[in-house]
Amino acid sequence: MVKICCIGAGYVGGPTMAVIALNCPSIEVVVVDISVTRISAWNSDQLPIYEPGLNEVVKQCKGRNLFFSTDIEKHVSEADIIFVSVNTPTKTRGLGAGKAADLTYWESAARMIADVSKSNKIVVEKSTVPVKTAEAIERILTHNSKGIKYQILSNPEFLAEGTAIQDLFKPDRVLIGGRETPDGLKAIQALKDVYAHWVPEDRIITTNLWSAELSKLAANAFLAQRISSVNAMSALCEATGADVSQVSHAVGKDSRIGPKFLNASVGFGGSCFQKDILNLVYICECNGLAEVANYWKQVIKVNDYQKNRFVNRVVSSMFNTVAGKKIGIMGFAFKKDTGDTRETPAIDVCKGLLGDKARLSIYDPQVTADQIQRDLTMNKFDWDHPIHLQPMSPTGVKQVSIAWDAYEASKDAHALCILTEWDEFKTLDYRRIFDNMQKPAFVFDGRNVVNVEMLRDIGFIVYSIGKPLDPWLKNMPAVA
Ligand code: NAI
Repeated sequence: MVKICCIGAGYVGGPTMAVIALNCPSIEVVVVDISVTRISAWNSDQLPIYEPGLNEVVKQCKGRNLFFSTDIEKHVSEADIIFVSVNTPTKTRGLGAGKAADLTYWESAARMIADVSKSNKIVVEKSTVPVKTAEAIERILTHNSKGIKYQILSNPEFLAEGTAIQDLFKPDRVLIGGRETPDGLKAIQALKDVYAHWVPEDRIITTNLWSAELSKLAANAFLAQRISSVNAMSALCEATGADVSQVSHAVGKDSRIGPKFLNASVGFGGSCFQKDILNLVYICECNGLAEVANYWKQVIKVNDYQKNRFVNRVVSSMFNTVAGKKIGIMGFAFKKDTGDTRETPAIDVCKGLLGDKARLSIYDPQVTADQIQRDLTMNKFDWDHPIHLQPMSPTGVKQVSIAWDAYEASKDAHALCILTEWDEFKTLDYRRIFDNMQKPAFVFDGRNVVNVEMLRDIGFIVYSIGKPLDPWLKNMPAVA
């Protein structure tokens, strides 16, 4: 029986290994992590992450050929293939701070593999890492050479949170990069054989190591760039009376462009896009490619601009002050169908509104009150885009309350801000919400989920990103 061990039981390691275990009954898969709480949660009925369909997959194979453990060294030493799926956040101190990837977790995992291994291993980079990381990892693994052979493969993960299970079952592609030597090709084939249990062969792409590592950064940069492009257009739409949904539709009909990922919004979030672009920028700078670095940096600047613009729109529409006014925040996760709040635009928007002394009542169906409080008090690392990034003062935190549902969040509020596109926000009883709000009642839709005409008929003043402005808003000071 082939044995797989995955180091890192997070958003990637957990679901990815569950899907491998389900599709490969002949393979034993053990997911290990240094976090005892995370592993206990995986071993309980309350999984540590919310992802549609994940519960069902885990239930079918946990205890059969899928295991979660904190006994890292044992399982690493027994495995034939080791996936490393630890976090690779942006460095916050020292050389490259604010841009470069922090490979501390990766390095410590690699050192541990080198220390405990007694047989040859295939080590798979599942985390997103800078191009050329495999070279460094190779050096670490072989530093106390005990005659053990390691083959490093790059197998970046392209799943999207919220649709992870679907993406893993039917990936657009699986990418495997490795050394172009006989042993390297053998390792590539071994990993290919795992995926071939359920992924059609023509969807499994093999490349050299550096192409695979760079492709992941490139894919995320392209995706984020699409969002920043449509968001930049949304500002121009508001200024000219064009409707960004109509523009996206028309643009996306061009088969060279395609219709996906063209929705305007309050901005992108999630743990990857910003981190990976910053990493790309850093790599470009290190290679003397300042123009290329600046090009990609602009994608993040537009994203920050969009969040800022949204806050300014809210404040300027409400007579230039939100001090003491209750604002209902609908959604805090960075996108629907996940409880993940890493880099969610809601953090910056909420901090911006709190900076103007608003009182916030926040509702999200999947994010806990503790998480929201933690996110709003955390001192976010500031590279060179200081928008609303001041840490919250203790008084600032008191301006925040957490609501159990959208109706509680909106009761007596002056405005609602929709910051996550949860489906339930489309079908709320907006008449009831309107009746319980202060007047004039504002809705600021940062995800274009509401029916603008219907809400205007009820009596709301509605702002929806990139849509023709409400006559009320047209008379308010221009938003930069
Ligand atoms: P995560 O933070 O949810 O999980 C990482 C886990 O690794 C944590 O549970 C941590 O305790 C564990 N860990 C860290 N060092 C360890 C060590 N030395 N030994 C054992 N466990 C250790 O991170 P997530 O979101 O799963 O991301 C992992 C990697 O995958 C990152 O490089 C990320 O960029 C990449 N990625 C993430 C995607 C996402 O949607 N979250 C999608 C595609 C790639």
